[in-house]
Amino acid sequence: MENFIAGLPKLELHLHIEGTLEPELMFALGQRNGVTLPWPDVASLRAAYEFDCLQSFLDLYYLGASVLVTEQDFFDLTWAYLERCAADKVVHVEIFFDPQTHSARGIPFETVLGGIERALQQGERQLGISWRLIMSFLRHLSEEAAFATLDEARPHLSRIHGIGLDSSELGNPPGKFARVFARCRELGLPVVAHAGEEGPAAYIWQTIQELQVRRIDHGVRCAEDPALVRYLADTRLPLTVCPLSNVRLRVFDKMADHNVLTLLEQGLCVTINSDDPAYFGGYMGANFQALANSLGATREQLCRLSLNGVEASWLSLADKVKLTQEIRGYGACHGVALY
Ligand code: ADE
Ligand code: ZN
Repeated sequence: MENFIAGLPKLELHLHIEGTLEPELMFALGQRNGVTLPWPDVASLRAAYEFDCLQSFLDLYYLGASVLVTEQDFFDLTWAYLERCAADKVVHVEIFFDPQTHSARGIPFETVLGGIERALQQGERQLGISWRLIMSFLRHLSEEAAFATLDEARPHLSRIHGIGLDSSELGNPPGKFARVFARCRELGLPVVAHAGEEGPAAYIWQTIQELQVRRIDHGVRCAEDPALVRYLADTRLPLTVCPLSNVRLRVFDKMADHNVLTLLEQGLCVTINSDDPAYFGGYMGANFQALANSLGATREQLCRLSLNGVEASWLSLADKVKLTQEIRGYGACHGVALY
C-alpha cells in the first residue's frame, strides 16, 4: 500500500502556504530577518504543537508567519513546499495565501505575491507541478478590511485565480462576507470558503446560498444535515477535506472516527488535502496513508479520491482529461468508474 500511495498522482486543493512553514525554516528566517520567536529552539516550538481547537492553532500560526518578510522568504517557503509535493507525487496544487497576515506587519502585497508566484513558476518548469493561486480573506477581520484588501489586490488580479475565506470560523459566519464575495464574483473570480470545520452545517448552507462558492473547504460537518448531504451528492459541489488537520484540531477525536470515506460512498465529491502540513504532522502522502491505516481505505477508494481532485480542480478541460487518463492508467485505478 505504501508504494501504491507513493506513486498515485495527487492534486492538492486546500493548502495554506503559511501553514507549510517547518520549524527549522521558521527559525532560519527568524534569524535572517532579526525576528525573535517566543520559543528558544525548534524542539520547544514542536512541543507547542498541541492544539485543542482551531483558535489554539491559529494563534501559533500567525506568530510563526511573522518571520516572513522578504520576497525571497516567500519564495523559499513555497519552494520547500513544492519539493515536498514532488516527493509525494503531487502533480497539481491550488494554494491559499493570506495577504492580511502580512499587510498588518507592513509587508507589501507584491512582496508576498511575487515570491510565491516565482516559486510556483519555477515548480511548473522544473518539477512539472501545475498550479492556481487563491487569495484568502481572514474572517476574524471586518468586511471593510476584506474590501480594502481587495482594493490593494486590484492591480494584481490577473495573477490570482480565486478568492477564499479562512481563519476563526465560530462567530464569523460566511454571510458576514456576502457583499465582498459578490464583488469578487463580479470581477470574474471564482470563490471558495472554509465552512463546517468547527462551524455548523448552517454555515455550509450559507456559503452555498450567500457566497455561491465553487468548493467548500472542510465541510465535514455536513454529515449533521441529511438534506445537505443529499444536496452535495446531487450537485457534486466539492468538499476539500483535510484528515490529519481534522484530527489535530479535534474536529474528530481520532482518525478512525473520520467521516471522509462515508461521504465518498454517499457520492460526494470529497478530496484529500493537507491544510497546514508543517503543523499537522504530514503532507499529501501522509494524509492518504492515514486513510489506509486507520480507515481501511482501499486502493480503489484512494484512486477515486484522486480523481475527485481532478474533477474539483480549476484546471482546463484538456488538462483534466490528461490527468484523468494518467490516474486511471495507474495500478488499481484501472477501470475505476468516472463520475
Ligand atoms: N487558516 C489556516 N488553516 C486554517 C484552517 N484549518 N481553518 C481555518 N483557517 C485556517
Ligand atoms: Zn484550511
